[in-house]
Amino acid sequence: MTHTLSRQEPRVLFITPEVFPLCKTGGLGDVSAALPAALRAMRLDVRLLIPGYPQVLSGLKYKRKVADFSGLPQFPPARLLSARLAVSASASIPLFVIDCPELYRREGSPYLDETERDWPDNAFRFGLLSKIGAILASDASPLAWRPHIAHCNDWQTGLTPAYLHFHQGQKAATLMTIHNLAFQGIFPAGSVAELGLPASSFDIQGVEYFGSMSFLKAGLYYAHHITTVSPSYAAEIQTDPLGFGMQGLLAARHKNMTGIINGIDTQEWDPAIDSHIVRNYTRSRLSAKAPNKHALQQMMGLIVDPAIPLFGMIGRFSHQKGYDLLLQVAPQLTKIPAQLVVLGNGDAVLEDKLALLAATYPGKIAVTIGFNEALSHLIEAGADSFLMPSRFEPCGLNQMYSQHYGTPPLVHATGGLLDTVVDCTPETLADGSASGFLFKNMTAEDFLVTLKRAVIAYHDKKTWQCLQKNGMAKDFNWHASAAIYREIYLSLLEV
Ligand code: ADP
Ligand code: GLC
Repeated sequence: MTHTLSRQEPRVLFITPEVFPLCKTGGLGDVSAALPAALRAMRLDVRLLIPGYPQVLSGLKYKRKVADFSGLPQFPPARLLSARLAVSASASIPLFVIDCPELYRREGSPYLDETERDWPDNAFRFGLLSKIGAILASDASPLAWRPHIAHCNDWQTGLTPAYLHFHQGQKAATLMTIHNLAFQGIFPAGSVAELGLPASSFDIQGVEYFGSMSFLKAGLYYAHHITTVSPSYAAEIQTDPLGFGMQGLLAARHKNMTGIINGIDTQEWDPAIDSHIVRNYTRSRLSAKAPNKHALQQMMGLIVDPAIPLFGMIGRFSHQKGYDLLLQVAPQLTKIPAQLVVLGNGDAVLEDKLALLAATYPGKIAVTIGFNEALSHLIEAGADSFLMPSRFEPCGLNQMYSQHYGTPPLVHATGGLLDTVVDCTPETLADGSASGFLFKNMTAEDFLVTLKRAVIAYHDKKTWQCLQKNGMAKDFNWHASAAIYREIYLSLLEV
């Protein structure tokens, strides 16, 4: 029995490497703001812990020092600051920020240097996040506030359950959420000692992973419970290839693993009030969506024509997201005819290939390289259909944003995409569930056949409106999923 705290609404320390709007590289940033906000709305005392990157420190107006961590043997001096993150006009989340200039005060991505390589000291950068998370969740904490649960997110926080496991004394229970198993935080074996973990933890029953150490493996091995961000992905990662080497461990722990679909922040993403788009619209006023398409075509230098179907795609340029398939089908897509608008950044080779694609098809394909929150909203509103040919997708948020925006998604049938999009067939149209298009095989042929299927549906006004309205009627709110997290927290009070 690790807890002396009485049974009540659990207090939760939500440990994360990014949170919107302070720092976001992908869906984890969105989830780290919206899930804690939903839990707090249910009266759970959830507080965040994040690293003090420059954009985090400058994005928070009022901060005060609440603890000093200058004596941690393995790490440079750090201070803990307390602040609040506004999540709406009326709500905010208490936030602990680790201010460690030596590790975090550098411009650029939280994970990569300007040459797109991992920061060489990432083991210490995220070792410190994990370590302070563990301290705050134990009786070694300098704070009066003590959580019952340490909720860890992705590899950057994976050592918290390991540190807590080896802590003698009172400590919180641990939950490890996998947002993406492809990122595992792998470092040389010597990091085990450098980060202050006992030598005995370097074992197959521990942090060892094919001769190296893995932060994620540590979390998956030592956490009391594991969640991932959709039921389908929870099943997929228990086998090869989507288990990325962890399938054995995950299959062995399947009784302690739950797949919980993400929700979306319906205040941030709502076509009725979205300030990033040209004209607001609702399910019953769908005609007001059209000016957004007009503006998007104009802004992107595409031929302005309301009749040509316009496909949108946003996301990290990485192997996961299936841009290679898009590059293969794009020339045929323009002949259908259809237009394409892409927003993203990442892999330099893909950036070059996509820029060349746009240059080859002026007026038909437009590509914007970069991270642009406002443009991402306009694409969701202005495109007719949204593409996600992801090889794998733990949950995916854009397919939910697009259904909410009356922009039916076309997706590969995998992970969270499979769980949130209903393929358009005569049956699903009849029963009112059709909300997009799915393709089964990760091939250019299957993708192209499905694109053609979507274009045929687009030209059938009744079918298309049906898809749009079905998607917009779906409830993607966080409520139901947040309630499942709460149940898991409560069950962990007993461990
Ligand atoms: P992942 O976390 O794997 O990148 P998700 O679909 O869960 O995928 O979330 C991606 C989030 O990041 C979405 O909110 C998406 O709009 C946003 N995003 C990704 N790339 C960009 C970009 N270049 N500009 C603006 N937003 C982006
Ligand atoms: C990851 C996944 C994505 C998921 C997001 C938030 O980055 O790739 O599918 O939606 O985390 O959980």
